[in-house]
Amino acid sequence: MDITPPIDLTPDNFHQLLADRNITAEQVNQRDGDPFSEMNLIRRAITHARKTTPFIYRNALPTLPDTTAWISELVHQTRAEQTRRDAITPVLRRGRSLLLLGPTGVGKTHQAYGTLRALAVTGITATWTATSSADLYAALRPRTGIDAETEFRRYAHTPLLLVDDLGAAKATEWTEEINFRLVNHRYENQLPTLFTSNVLPKQLADRLGDRVASRLTEMCDRVVITGQDRRRQDAA
Ligand SMILES: Nc1ncnc2c1ncn2[C@@H]1O[C@H](COP(=O)(O)OP(=O)(O)OP(=O)(O)O)[C@@H](O)[C@H]1O
Ligand SMILES: [Mg+2]
Repeated sequence: MDITPPIDLTPDNFHQLLADRNITAEQVNQRDGDPFSEMNLIRRAITHARKTTPFIYRNALPTLPDTTAWISELVHQTRAEQTRRDAITPVLRRGRSLLLLGPTGVGKTHQAYGTLRALAVTGITATWTATSSADLYAALRPRTGIDAETEFRRYAHTPLLLVDDLGAAKATEWTEEINFRLVNHRYENQLPTLFTSNVLPKQLADRLGDRVASRLTEMCDRVVITGQDRRRQDAA
């Protein structure tokens, strides 16, 4: 594990996320020469988050009590597991998932990236992969030179996964099978996953199939976001 050099905290609200944890910019950038120190892990995680977060969500913060509670629980469990294993660093392995539901434009994806960014300053190592369901299907479509099964495993096995817009595309037998295999793998191995969807809660089973909806119900903390389409509000 390398030592991550000092980082600039001003551009994208990370100073705010750190302030919420009572960590100053000086503290996060202190050079202790220890690749396993909490501050080094935080600098690494912030660097990863910056690479992985789309531009319009670069300042996102988690604003809902349910999402901040989910983060706290995940961190608590990861640290407990670190103590149990006597591990050098707290590495996220298992935990509950999060299902963010709500109509178009209320802020589901914003909340999801805010949550992932907030997780970056907790000091736990939680490498994440983010995709929308449409991009996922595109990545898994059989084509020359790509082994779809290897691609699938990249998403199925990642320690922390964001699947944006689940159920947004018109379902086919093939997309249903991908959804089922992915959700089932994450479910059976208790791998934390953030799902967003604009499917109404009572229509989840109709849109995603009963077996996917049933697993999501058990594995996820469900957060329903209400309100207006922020994009149209901003345009008005
Ligand atoms: N809490 C927030 N504070 C500031 N801006 C926000 C907040 N939540 C959402 N936004 C902004 O509102 C717009 C819509 O948010 P977002 O893309 O997250 O919606 P969504 O619910 O994912 O929509 P869709 O269902 O179409 O995917 C974006 O520009 C986003 O940055
Ligand atoms: Mg969205």
